[in-house]
Amino acid sequence: MGKALIVYYSYSGITRGVAESIAILTDGDIFELRPEKPYSLTYNTAVKEARNEIERDFCPKLEEYMESIDKYDTIFVGSPNWLKTFVPPVLTFLREMSFKDKKVIPFCTHGGGGFGNMVERIKDECKEAAVLKGLELLGSYRRRKNRTMVKRNRNIII
Ligand SMILES: Cc1cc2nc3c(=O)[nH]c(=O)nc-3n(C[C@H](O)[C@H](O)[C@H](O)COP(=O)(O)O)c2cc1C
Repeated sequence: MGKALIVYYSYSGITRGVAESIAILTDGDIFELRPEKPYSLTYNTAVKEARNEIERDFCPKLEEYMESIDKYDTIFVGSPNWLKTFVPPVLTFLREMSFKDKKVIPFCTHGGGGFGNMVERIKDECKEAAVLKGLELLGSYRRRKNRTMVKRNRNIII
């Protein structure tokens, strides 16, 4: 496998931990998607903001953009499950880049909903990519456990 890129958004740090584990296992580069206007730290308000953006397919502006993903052949795309799908900053990234001939590996953390419909949506957005099965982990604050799960599932991701 050529150089891997791990792109992710994390609201409360769980998905970040998984992204870091994947980066270590694959010796990949890591890039965090940060919206220019962060979501509210109040959970209920964040849910409202998320619903409003997701319903409109809104692509929030990011603090920083990647210039290109040309040098990577495998792109891990990570998000918490928000309202059964990936977060809006991931949509910004997917629409910004060309995924022709890339391998895309989704990963997510969630509160019980698994991937929801995010893999189907990633396939819709990246029609020219091979979207693999990926890895979904129950979000919990036990980082060490998530790290173990990433390792245990290394056959899926490497
Ligand atoms: C705005 C919001 C919406 C969420 N919606 C869902 C959902 O629909 N299904 C689910 O299983 N978990 C949902 N969750 C829980 C997160 O997916 C879960 O806590 C995740 O592990 C958090 O990852 P993070 O720390 O990287 O942000 C939601 C959390 C937030 C903040």
